[in-house]
Order: sequence, then C-alpha cells, then structure tokens
Amino acid sequence: MKVDLHTLWDIEIDESRLCEYCTDDSIHLEISYNSDFRNAVFLRKIADFICKHYWVHPKWRTRIVLIVDELNNNAIEYGTLKWGSNLFEFQLVKNTCWNIDIRISVTDAWNGLHAKNAGNMKELRDQHNSKDFSKHHSIRGRGLFLIISRLVDSLEFEDVDKKGLKVIVTKSLQVHSDS
Ligand SMILES: Nc1ncnc2c1ncn2[C@@H]1O[C@H](COP(=O)(O)OP(=O)(O)OP(=O)(O)O)[C@@H](O)[C@H]1O
Ligand SMILES: [Mg+2]
Repeated sequence: MKVDLHTLWDIEIDESRLCEYCTDDSIHLEISYNSDFRNAVFLRKIADFICKHYWVHPKWRTRIVLIVDELNNNAIEYGTLKWGSNLFEFQLVKNTCWNIDIRISVTDAWNGLHAKNAGNMKELRDQHNSKDFSKHHSIRGRGLFLIISRLVDSLEFEDVDKKGLKVIVTKSLQVHSDS
C-alpha cells in the first residue's frame, strides 16, 4: 500500500487507518514524506504502532523505532533537500505463530548536499568496519554503522533507478522474545 504521510495523521497518527492496512499476518506500507525532521516523530509513531499491533517484544519495538528514526534522519540530513520527498517502507510478515520478519527501507532523493550512491555507502561501511570504535570520540558517526548494523540481520544499499539511495535493513524476530 503506497500512501502519503499526510493521509495518516491529523493532530495524531490515525490508528484506525493504519489498522486497515494490517492483515492478520502482514503489513507492507510505503509512505512518502517531505524531507523535514518534523516528520520523523510521525514515522516513529507509525513503526511503534505496527510493532505493538503484531506483538513485537517491547525491547525490540523500541529498537525498531530507533532503526526507523536513524534511517529517516540520515535521508533527511544527507540524501534529500528540504521539501524533497523520501520513501519509507515498512514490511512485517508473521511467518508462523512465533516468527516475524521485518524489512525496513528508506529511499532518499539524491539531491541533498551530501547525497551518496550505494557504492559510496559500501566504501564508508568498509572504512567503519576497519576502524577501532574505542578511539571514536565524536558523538556523530555512530547511528548507522555502530548502532543499527549491530542490531539488524542485514544492512544493504541499493541505487534506485537513478532516483535515490535505498538503505535497507532486515531483522527476524521471535514473538514475545527479547532476543
Ligand atoms: N541516506 C544517506 N545519504 C548519504 N549519506 C549517508 C546516508 N546515510 C548515511 N550516510 C553517510 O554515512 C555516514 C554514517 O552515518 P551514521 O548514521 O552512522 O552517522 P551520522 O549520521 O553522521 O551521525 P549519527 O551518529 O548522529 O547518526 C554519515 O556521516 C553520512 O556521510
Ligand atoms: Mg545518522
């Protein structure tokens, strides 16, 4: 289901509207939004609501919200000019009673001052992987490669049809389990 963020909230997130997109065992939402930090709060709330709806463990619910926030913040800060548009995708599939697969991606518009392609991001990842983070003193430069990459099962980068960089993470979870 592809929607614009504006259709999902007025003063607050429209939870009944979100429920309409949830089937018994899956949801696949594609939300386009203006590249403005003020939108991040709504995207966090949407991720939190979906996780609660499918009984994701509270510890992982918090982590999924953190992951969503980081991917969106990076797209807003680096990939897309203010008032450009990003695409946030959230896919959750309940495979069995106990197993949930989550796939989250954010595609930027490649017009930001610090926009990068997938090759650039893979190079950055290699640089970070070879770095000793105990010697990393900046409070920046931790979100994606230090925190998020350690939480998820996979972190990938794709170039989307000359339109933008897509940052994709996946995580497989057990319902009610915090591991
Ligand atoms: N969507 C994106 N487009 C372009 N560059 C990106 C994107 N996401 C991340 N980057 C690059 O990857 C680097 C590392 O990202 P990371 O999120 O780890 O750190 P940060 O955003 O600089 O700081 P913070 O710790 O506050 O998240 C960024 O500094 C930026 O150069
Ligand atoms: Mg970041």
